[in-house]
Amino acid sequence: MSRLDTVGDTLVLAPGDRRWPAWLDLLQGLSGLLLVLFMWAHLFAVSSILLGKPAMYRVTRFFEGSLFFDTPQPWLVSLVALFIFVIFVLHTLLALRKLPSGYRQWRAWLVHMGGMRHEETSLWLVQVITGLVLMFFATAHLLELFLHPSNIGPHASAARIASGGWVLGLVLLLSVEVHAGIGLYRLIVKWGWFGLVDTAARRRRLRRFVYALVAFFLLLGVTTQMAYLRIGKESAVRDGLRYVPPGSAQIVPPLSDEAPLRISQTGEEVKR
Ligand code: HEM
Repeated sequence: MSRLDTVGDTLVLAPGDRRWPAWLDLLQGLSGLLLVLFMWAHLFAVSSILLGKPAMYRVTRFFEGSLFFDTPQPWLVSLVALFIFVIFVLHTLLALRKLPSGYRQWRAWLVHMGGMRHEETSLWLVQVITGLVLMFFATAHLLELFLHPSNIGPHASAARIASGGWVLGLVLLLSVEVHAGIGLYRLIVKWGWFGLVDTAARRRRLRRFVYALVAFFLLLGVTTQMAYLRIGKESAVRDGLRYVPPGSAQIVPPLSDEAPLRISQTGEEVKR
């Protein structure tokens, strides 16, 4: 069957082809939803430091396969980082296709937005800006973890954040939480999930709920970074010593590429 039909004098796509944009939209929404859920789970995992170093250490070991392997397997972290990156790139490409192209289209859109003064239309611009920031900052973060998966832990993460990583962390936190919150709201509105936007009052309530959720994750993120910064000032971290839970005796690689460390039975870290 021909892929093109004519309506009057105009050539148009055949009906089958017209479904593509809807499928791509659905794929964009689902990949976004997956990233939002990953992001929130990830922030809870990172914030385990608020419960103490042993808690964060256990979470790190879990992601290194402690359920199945006796020794840490950091490549598992690289694998997850790669998977998330693929979803992230897919989501970005699907979103980029909907951006206005060129100066004229952008100007028309901005004039339209200014004239309407409609909160949800303005939210779309916030999505574009935070999405662009994420393209660079999330890629940098994922690349770092992909290449150095064993450099995650109570001391390793604190050392990274205290040596300037907090700048990347804060920008990433702000843009990702705002982007995730607005994205989720727009997804629910677009597909009309659970009747949450059936009336104007329900829609307003949903918006307030999403704003509260964003505020919660921002607060959790900032508190977490402050905890890492505090740990980053400890002399053991500044000396480049890895965290080892009390009671374990093992040889562990240091934070930098120096000689390995010897860890005493009481959990004391001995630099060699
Ligand atoms: C497998 C993938 C990922 C892993 C293993 C991971 C791991 C980590 C770790 C260990 C930290 C603590 C700081 C550090 O060690 O540098 C952190 C912080 C952070 N990550 Fe990720 N991350 C991943 C993916 C992502 C993605 C895709 C995003 C966002 C697009 C993201 C956003 C953040 C943010 C915002 C922080 C700062 C958290 C805070 O403010 O408390 N991460 N991540």
